[in-house]
Amino acid sequence: MTLHELMTEDASRLLIVETRTGAPEIVHFGRAFAGGAGGLEALRERSVPNAALDVEAPATLLPEEGEGWPGLPGLTGRADDGSGWSPRVTFLDEERIDNRLVVRARDAVAGLLLTTEIELDPYGVLRCRASILNEGERDWVAERIALTVPVPHRFGTLRVPEGRWVHEFHHVDIPLRVGATEIANRRGRTSHDRPPTLFAGTNGFTNQTGEVWGLHLGWSGNAATRAEVLTDGRRVMQLGELFQGDEGRIAPATDLTTPWLYIAASDAGVDGVSQAFHRHLRARPGHTPPSGSRPIHLNTWEAVYFDHDLETLKALADRAAEVGAERYVLDDGWFHGRRHDRAGLGDWWVDETVWPNGLTPLIDHVTGLGLEFGIWVEPEMVNPDSDLFREHPEWAMQDPGHDPITGRNQLVLDLTRPEVFDRILGHLDRLLADHDVSYVKWDMNRDLTQAGSGARAAARAQTIANWRLIDELRVRHPTVTIESCSSGGGRADFGILERTDRVWTSDSNDALERQRIQSGFLRVFPPELMGAHVGPGQSHTSGRRHGLGFRATTAMFASFGIEWNLLDATDEERRQLAEIIEVHKRHRNLIHTGTVWQPDVADPAQQALLFVSADRTEALLSIAQLEIARYAVPSPIRLPGLVPDVRYRIEMQLLGDSRVGLAIAQPEWTRSGLTDISGAMLEAIGIQPPALDPESAIVIHLSAD
Ligand code: DGJ
Repeated sequence: MTLHELMTEDASRLLIVETRTGAPEIVHFGRAFAGGAGGLEALRERSVPNAALDVEAPATLLPEEGEGWPGLPGLTGRADDGSGWSPRVTFLDEERIDNRLVVRARDAVAGLLLTTEIELDPYGVLRCRASILNEGERDWVAERIALTVPVPHRFGTLRVPEGRWVHEFHHVDIPLRVGATEIANRRGRTSHDRPPTLFAGTNGFTNQTGEVWGLHLGWSGNAATRAEVLTDGRRVMQLGELFQGDEGRIAPATDLTTPWLYIAASDAGVDGVSQAFHRHLRARPGHTPPSGSRPIHLNTWEAVYFDHDLETLKALADRAAEVGAERYVLDDGWFHGRRHDRAGLGDWWVDETVWPNGLTPLIDHVTGLGLEFGIWVEPEMVNPDSDLFREHPEWAMQDPGHDPITGRNQLVLDLTRPEVFDRILGHLDRLLADHDVSYVKWDMNRDLTQAGSGARAAARAQTIANWRLIDELRVRHPTVTIESCSSGGGRADFGILERTDRVWTSDSNDALERQRIQSGFLRVFPPELMGAHVGPGQSHTSGRRHGLGFRATTAMFASFGIEWNLLDATDEERRQLAEIIEVHKRHRNLIHTGTVWQPDVADPAQQALLFVSADRTEALLSIAQLEIARYAVPSPIRLPGLVPDVRYRIEMQLLGDSRVGLAIAQPEWTRSGLTDISGAMLEAIGIQPPALDPESAIVIHLSAD
């Protein structure tokens, strides 16, 4: 039995892992102890209750029934004849290199070799995964491989995802109590409603207070997240793939590896978890470092939908360039037969009726204006009304003998078949080789149902094949940036983000909805990955109307863009938009590289977002009033993350048509600014915001005096 201590270089996070039985067990994750971990074993010794097994099964990464685990096991499965149903691995060996630990364990009876990997990154994010090699002579079929993480006994609250289309990244808090809470996602994509993320913490945790752990599975397919409190008081989080049919089958001499599970721990609220996740994602290999130069988009979707017309699209590009956009993304509707959403998917060549001279005249026009050109694709899909489907109806995923179910009039292409993979890769490759395209919006607009390949369930293999398709395209076109979209934010996870650089956060451009959606997104992902566009005055998805100031103040703290037919905008609106874009450009380096805080607010109808520069000499704060203020006088907002003894100058900015609310008097600083205020005061006392109208927002700039 060994206790391994893995510590971040700045000594802020300590992970203690025990390798006692087969798989390792997380013993401690959080602050380092002054004086080391001596005596930990003695402190951890638990009594053995009556009517229990003589030895308590440890909460390893994959606790086993065979070990006596009283909860749902992490690893279950069996051979076809029913044997090997209760695996029990025993420790074999381990290798520790710096902050990476690899432990091997074997069940000679079931014929399984289990390898678990645990790594602690420099930002305090712990990630782990398991791999099962079948060393036997018969297939072994895994039913469930869920990585299991014990959280501190003092945790009483679970925060789980909730949402739907145009309402992504919402969460609800529920009590963590005896029994289990399971959230299963069977949509075959990360999903709008059940993405694989959980938070657990002490009761009443907030953005800045309480102990919280965040857990996230880097997987874009079916998955279950589960929290269980055992009657012996232990509480565990379990995250793993959901297998369908035979997906867990492991043939002799082959293995099955789980997705990575990511965990961050904070003793100062959710922000600590978010900041660790952001830093981890910012450092992921092979990606554009956050340079502060995330270009400003003009996306054509809500501007023209399928109504593609070269002259209109060129004029839109002119307007985009005038207001300061830097990337023009031609959305759905450009390819063969795609005049509406009932046809065309699969036929990835330019529609000759709408584009008699191809896309080049538009691309030349756009790049001539100095903008990058981006294009929309949905490579995983096929419409029954397409040349591809007419040629190869058998290429659609299905369960033979049952009629396939369509979603948005489309079926899913079976990318696990090499000929399908190659055909689609060939189309995409040619599209990028033949055109000056530097950006791809990769969409995916339906759930996977009956996701079969031949007679077998294949949602898992499809998820992997799709990742591989993106990877291969990236190898062939390494300078092209790819955005992950799935009817808005239906595919945002650490797995897809290994191969993409922006997320289309939601199809809602309604600023009010976006405030909440983006707050939820930022709990896990950093702002430069968060696509956010200024839409028209009336939202297409909700019918709500908002002024430009609120729309822009909401979209600018992100990877900013426009999704509005600027040909319909007034001169004054375009003038204001250009001004706002200038403000964004001035501050985007801070927004895209800074530390994100979501200051706790007293008014539940208010939301604050704070971006602090790396050297903490500058910060930007947005305060949004979502509904009528709860209190007649706004409560102060305390600002974390500044340098206590640096003195800041504070200025309020109203963007576009923004205004403060009605009051006999507003604090003087909102007009004249403030100087010489220490970071310590801002953290302890906070700033006193002006009264605000519902559905409005202000921006506050802070800089070292
Ligand atoms: C769904 C996406 O989320 C939208 O932004 C748009 O690209 C449409 N698909 C196009 O069909």
